[in-house]
Amino acid sequence: MEAGIFNSSSILTQDELKKIAAYKAVEHVESGMILGLGSGSTVKHAVDRIGELLQMGKLKNIIGITTSENTHQRAMSVGIPLSDLDSHPVLDLAIDGADEVDPHLNLVKGRCGSLLREKMVEGACRKFVVIVDESKLVDHLGGSGLAMPVEVVPFCWKFTAKTLQDLFSEAGCVAKLKTCEEESGEPFVTDNGNYIVDLYFKKDIGDLRAASEAILQVAGVVEHGMFLNMATTVIVARELGITVKNK
Ligand code: 5RP
Repeated sequence: MEAGIFNSSSILTQDELKKIAAYKAVEHVESGMILGLGSGSTVKHAVDRIGELLQMGKLKNIIGITTSENTHQRAMSVGIPLSDLDSHPVLDLAIDGADEVDPHLNLVKGRCGSLLREKMVEGACRKFVVIVDESKLVDHLGGSGLAMPVEVVPFCWKFTAKTLQDLFSEAGCVAKLKTCEEESGEPFVTDNGNYIVDLYFKKDIGDLRAASEAILQVAGVVEHGMFLNMATTVIVARELGITVKNK
């Protein structure tokens, strides 16, 4: 592990593990790159580190393409020049976190609600480096018991949620609207003005590609949080060191 970044206590916090993974990913960044910048608490460390390296003159001529308004604000605040996919349809590298990573490097993403822009930006990258702490590793997607997010249009979202739940009835699926963290119970609204329906599974959903296609067939669905065969590298920060998995 790199010296000087972390505290000396033997037990690292989850945030420290996220930072370790993020710093390792930034080693893949070279001057002149067009960079996809993901969303969430892990990638925040990567954004800050890239800003720091730009300030120090160790990186030059980076252009960032962000995947959420939050990351956009953060990247601007640390001095990363920004553009968009319309101007740069092919990116050199994207760095992002994930909610689940399976042994084949398939991912669940989007629990922060940024899955649509992430899928667009990361789908346009030559290399996609995913950074996680070890708590994100699962045997199969949906297996953590946590949400698999689906972005849906607000129009008749209950109908869309029920259709999704029925689609996966054999896997014991329960569909719930994502709400804001405050107690208002108001729907969480994505950067694109849509809602998120979270799917919870009691059993393995089976063939992921078939599940992906079935979800995308449902009218009202915009995108889902399964990122299949997209990651080229996954950096896992563990208590005992870093593991790098390549496709
Ligand atoms: C946001 C994402 C995040 O990468 C994912 O939720 C992981 O978040 P964190 O780094 O905060 O654990 O997909 O839409």
